[in-house]
Amino acid sequence: MTVVSEHDLKKLQEIGRVVALTIRAMQKALHPGMTTRELDEIGLVVMEQHGARSAPRLVYQFPGATCISINQEAAHGIPGERVIQPGDLVNIDVSAEKDGYYADAATTVMVPPTTPLQRRLSHCTRTALHKAIRAARAGQSLNVIGKAVEGEAQRCGFTVLRDLTGHGVGRTIHEEPRAVLNYYNPLERRRFQEGMVLTIEPFLTTGASRSVTASDGWTLTTPDGSLSAQYEHTIVITRGRPLVLTALTS
Ligand code: CO
Ligand code: CO
Repeated sequence: MTVVSEHDLKKLQEIGRVVALTIRAMQKALHPGMTTRELDEIGLVVMEQHGARSAPRLVYQFPGATCISINQEAAHGIPGERVIQPGDLVNIDVSAEKDGYYADAATTVMVPPTTPLQRRLSHCTRTALHKAIRAARAGQSLNVIGKAVEGEAQRCGFTVLRDLTGHGVGRTIHEEPRAVLNYYNPLERRRFQEGMVLTIEPFLTTGASRSVTASDGWTLTTPDGSLSAQYEHTIVITRGRPLVLTALTS
């Protein structure tokens, strides 16, 4: 969507904050020995306390309130009986709706003991997100995102998962602009416009450049077992730095 009024902005900030609080609560509660379903239920409680609903469940009938993806799983992991183990790399992706407005964000959490590879992958992916956010402004080509993410991945020696992308958001979970790529595309002609609401969500791996769908029909994993990390925020484009709707300190 494009923000056209103070009301739009207020409502987006409200749902952005709910998403951020949900992720923070899940991140705090996460511990080895718990199931991903238990972690999901903690997120659901926060959403419900704020009068929000799970967007993937609402829009896609996803079988969970949040997406929890572990290690080689990149996205859309279904919460269930899987027990979180020491050494897991856990991706928590939350999108929610309130009063017809949507926001979407994600973080990757390392469960100790962590490896240097996990730490480098997580750190590099988060840096890629922040560099891409800084590059996004009205008038710029959407390619600034792909350039920033790809540049950071190369610098760290990691690979961009090319089939997972950012997207417009606001009045539903996925809307225009679709396919905000995490790599440079010479055919990209679109430019950022003031008020545009979208996610930026780099996925980096220790090897794979494409994901495959697991037998559950939802979970996207790397085909070679390489680790994946993702960080995501929902932003509003301005003529300067974007507004980050899903950060608690901005
Ligand atoms: Co997301
Ligand atoms: Co998203």
